[in-house]
Amino acid sequence: MKLDGCTALITGASAGLGREFARQLAGRAETLLLVARRKDRMEELRAELTRSFPRLNVQVFESDLSRIEQVEQLGKELERDGLRIDFLINNAGLGDRGHFATANPQRVQDMLLVNTVALTALTRRYLPAMIAQKRGAILNVSSCASFLPMKSFAVYAATKAYVTSFSEALRMEVADSGVTVTALCPGPVHTEFDDVALRPNEPQQKAPEFTYVSAEQVVRHALKGVESGRPIIIPGFAMKLSMTIVRLMPAPFLRLTSRLAR
Ligand SMILES: NC(=O)c1ccc[n+]([C@@H]2O[C@H](COP(=O)([O-])OP(=O)(O)OC[C@H]3O[C@@H](n4cnc5c(N)ncnc54)[C@H](OP(=O)(O)O)[C@@H]3O)[C@@H](O)[C@H]2O)c1
Repeated sequence: MKLDGCTALITGASAGLGREFARQLAGRAETLLLVARRKDRMEELRAELTRSFPRLNVQVFESDLSRIEQVEQLGKELERDGLRIDFLINNAGLGDRGHFATANPQRVQDMLLVNTVALTALTRRYLPAMIAQKRGAILNVSSCASFLPMKSFAVYAATKAYVTSFSEALRMEVADSGVTVTALCPGPVHTEFDDVALRPNEPQQKAPEFTYVSAEQVVRHALKGVESGRPIIIPGFAMKLSMTIVRLMPAPFLRLTSRLAR
């Protein structure tokens, strides 16, 4: 789908990749609907975008996507405003680094709710209208973590395995309907993600610097991939190559290398 003139709903628009999606779509979209908890950040972004693009319609929705009733409320508000969303970017997400046995149960629940439940609920809400209009694109922000079980990142990787699997299956269901579904699977990106995923009093564990891809590059690849209807996007040569190898690896070998990894 060509993204010019689209009405895009971007979750997690207050930081990182979500904010970058808004910036890169600003010169092309007609309407941007920004969703996250930090309203002040999104208001700043709205001011920045409308300064550069005065005709752009930017609306801000404060919503905690770990609260089912707020996800419902968001849907109702958007419906009341009569907005026709043709580009849904399910981007909001969070991680939690450390062993599962010592995880904060509330954090685990929030991760499940934001990364999978809210994403599924928003997709269910907007997909039927896209199919009826024979026009739409859904971009689910997954991760390279979706391709392999990861110790000390067990729940996060499992939520992203859900996102990639769900996106692939949905894509098959809507084939030839005019709607595309894409899973974006980045490797490490410098955003607030690592700080949010860090538990108190635990040392920061970062991937080697050469595996990082900039948010600007991730989003550029993603938007191009959506426009060409790609199923899965893995930005960056290093991650694309390593994930190709991972996906070809026999399970016992994958288990062994994952166990030996840092
Ligand atoms: N950075 C990476 O290395 C990396 C790699 C692969 C995949 N990803 C994925 O990329 C996506 C974006 O992450 P990022 O790197 O941009 O991280 P980020 O800088 O931490 O941004 C996360 C966004 O999600 C929003 N969010 C978190 N919890 C929320 C909640 N309960 N309700 C509403 N919004 C919530 C945050 O907004 P508020 O806090 O204002 O609510 C923020 O806008 C995530 O799905 C992440 O899993 C990131």
